[in-house]
Amino acid sequence: MVSEQNEPFVIRGKLFTLLDDGEKNEYLYDDDGVMVVGSEGRILSIGSQVPDEYSHYQVVNTQHLIIPGFVDAHVHYPQLPVIASYGASLLDWLDKYTFPEEIRYGDRSYADGRAARFLALILEKGVTSAAVFSTIHDVALEALQVSNRDIGLNLVSGITGMDQGAPDQLLVDLATFKAINQRAIESCREIERFGYAVTPRFALSCSEKMLDYCGQLLEADQSLLMQTHINETEDEILATSALFPNATDYLDVYASFGLLSDRSLFAHGIHNTEIEYEKWAAAGASVIHCPTSNTFLGSGLFDANGYTSKEINVALGSDVGGGFSLNPFVTMAEAYKVAKLRGQVLDPLLLMYWHTLGGARAIHQEETVGSLEPGKYADFCLVDITSDYVGSEIWERAATVRDKLFSLMFAMPDSKNRVVATFTAGILRWHDEIQSGL
Ligand code: GUN
Ligand code: ZN
Repeated sequence: MVSEQNEPFVIRGKLFTLLDDGEKNEYLYDDDGVMVVGSEGRILSIGSQVPDEYSHYQVVNTQHLIIPGFVDAHVHYPQLPVIASYGASLLDWLDKYTFPEEIRYGDRSYADGRAARFLALILEKGVTSAAVFSTIHDVALEALQVSNRDIGLNLVSGITGMDQGAPDQLLVDLATFKAINQRAIESCREIERFGYAVTPRFALSCSEKMLDYCGQLLEADQSLLMQTHINETEDEILATSALFPNATDYLDVYASFGLLSDRSLFAHGIHNTEIEYEKWAAAGASVIHCPTSNTFLGSGLFDANGYTSKEINVALGSDVGGGFSLNPFVTMAEAYKVAKLRGQVLDPLLLMYWHTLGGARAIHQEETVGSLEPGKYADFCLVDITSDYVGSEIWERAATVRDKLFSLMFAMPDSKNRVVATFTAGILRWHDEIQSGL
């Protein structure tokens, strides 16, 4: 049994990680690999041998695949209950299902229950870092902070800014927004592994004054990130250009209020113009591709080449509840299918990159998360590849690591194979008592 405390240990098993060396397809795979985890929850070494200096550490042997924890770079915790709501496109779906549910998060006890449930679920899927949308309510963000005390994920979140275009219960005046933002930023500073992202929901829900204030916050404090939505559907784009007639395009709305920088996480970005791609690349902003949301809501087909050809950082997000699954393997498989429908073929290693190191880069934490390399946090999960035909047939038969990962993405969600344990900072945070063997 692995300690649930911070004690150093060695874990031995099939070990896979991408290596953060600038290329997006360098990796380490060892059928009998070892990772040494120190008492600070950081990785001390990886490879095929335990260095002599750590030879006295407890060794945990696992038949499961050891891989880096995933980064869900765009997800709405209050939307779990509206997942798979029928038949709407984005703006209808927000009005009919999402806004009514989000109103309920003004009640701290409701938010507490939902936040705890959400965090437990993403942990069970092997997610160890996430950029999370909350609601306009300060108590909803507090619920996320408090629930995470027991769960130990690496999170980024913020107050979701809205002062127009939604029911009154989801709108605040600017003075209130300023006050709750200030308090929320301070409170996040006091929490380990909990970053703050200034979060104007999207241009349609924010007045110019609110966007301007968000830009001022980012200017004043360079440690803050910014997350929002952009170019998700045609209707949304038309409505945005009607509301901001002076903007040359959707990205220009954000840029003109100081919201376009290398600290920006823009979700979707499906219907960009060529000029938008160029400005995006020049700013060093990240795109968060949310393929299950885009297919579910019928928003459109993300153009992977549009981003990769300009070396724009791409990360993956579940975008639950627009997205229908918190499972990173489902998200990667869906990204593959979306690209295929555009005539593009994505390398499984690139999909893994987007969901680990790409996410780490988007949240500016590539020095500490996203791969299993010395000095980084030991944020990882164990994937059972032996309990079903995926392990016994597909995994063994696939000739290369690429092929093995590819088959896992497609075959795993429908088999008994799944994530069976998740660790953050070297601590076992969740495991399936029967299947994990821990
Ligand atoms: N645009 C503005 N708000 C949202 C949201 O909650 N989900 C999605 N998918 N798009 C949005
Ligand atoms: Zn979203």
